[in-house]
Amino acid sequence: MTAVPLESFCADLERLRGDAEAAFQSVADAAALEAFRVEFLGARSGRLKAIQKSLGGLEVADKPAGGRYFNDAKNAITACLEAAQARLAEAAGGVETGSIDVTLPGTLVPLGHVHPLTRTIRRVQEIMGRLGFESVDGPEVEDQWHNFEALAISAEHPARDPLDNFYLAVARGADPLLLRSQTSTVQIRVMENREPPLRIVSLGRVYRPDTADATHYPMFHQVEGLLVEPGTTMSHLKSVLRLFASSFLGGDVRVRFRPSFFPFTEPSVEVDMEWGGRWVEMGGAGMIDPAVLEAVGYDPDAISGFAFGLGVERIAARRYGVDDIRDFYRNDVRFLRQF
Ligand code: PHE
Repeated sequence: MTAVPLESFCADLERLRGDAEAAFQSVADAAALEAFRVEFLGARSGRLKAIQKSLGGLEVADKPAGGRYFNDAKNAITACLEAAQARLAEAAGGVETGSIDVTLPGTLVPLGHVHPLTRTIRRVQEIMGRLGFESVDGPEVEDQWHNFEALAISAEHPARDPLDNFYLAVARGADPLLLRSQTSTVQIRVMENREPPLRIVSLGRVYRPDTADATHYPMFHQVEGLLVEPGTTMSHLKSVLRLFASSFLGGDVRVRFRPSFFPFTEPSVEVDMEWGGRWVEMGGAGMIDPAVLEAVGYDPDAISGFAFGLGVERIAARRYGVDDIRDFYRNDVRFLRQF
């Protein structure tokens, strides 16, 4: 039997090593990894095993060198297998023990921040809190009494139209329920349960089936303010709104009242605010209508109060220079990151 030349032995090893490297680098799952492990390193019929057998055919003088080449190639192929194992484990979310150096300096994890509307809500609560207004919540699913009747919105009033509200499906004969269309519901809930003097503010979601555009959305937020104290007048209302707006927007803000109508206030006004040379309509307000005071069991001859309801998106848009309120709900981090 002629001896195997060392050169061809080494060439076989090199080819095997190249094939194994390429194979292990390409594996994308555990099944492929196992198949290549068997093909290259399998103990019975693996390709490395076949070359190991030919080691015995080398000239005696070539055997030590051949053995070294063989071991080098075997170590290199085993390293490729382990690298592929680690790569797959990492891709699966696992952390290879020993593969991370915990003493390395950390990198900053980008932290999120509160949504601009949440920030606006908290800021409004804080400013109004300093003026003595306690922050309260009310339910978003309401009955007719709190959304309409106690607010003197009669059965025929167009504001109760099913096309203008999100009524819920209820059992036949059960009292209608709807997603509240205004936060004025909370005025009623508070006055029903407490006695004056009252200073409350309530911020939350309201729902109206409006078509979404730059200034409308089927869900939006309102801030409702309510103050009930003997001797309250429209001038108190205007002062509170002006103090609030100046604190929130910064600098001097002018407040303008335009005559309007709401069933639950008398007189009623639209509230406009001017800041930086631009007037913007912010919402409605007025003195609490005697019918509402009666509905909650107060004596309209002994007590008076004011209420206002402003759009939170409008306030936030004004503050942050946003010209399309839909951006607040798109959850696009490129937009949200700016605040
Ligand atoms: N609830 C009214 C609206 O949504 C606003 C308002 C609140 C008006 C309080 C007067 C008093 O349009």
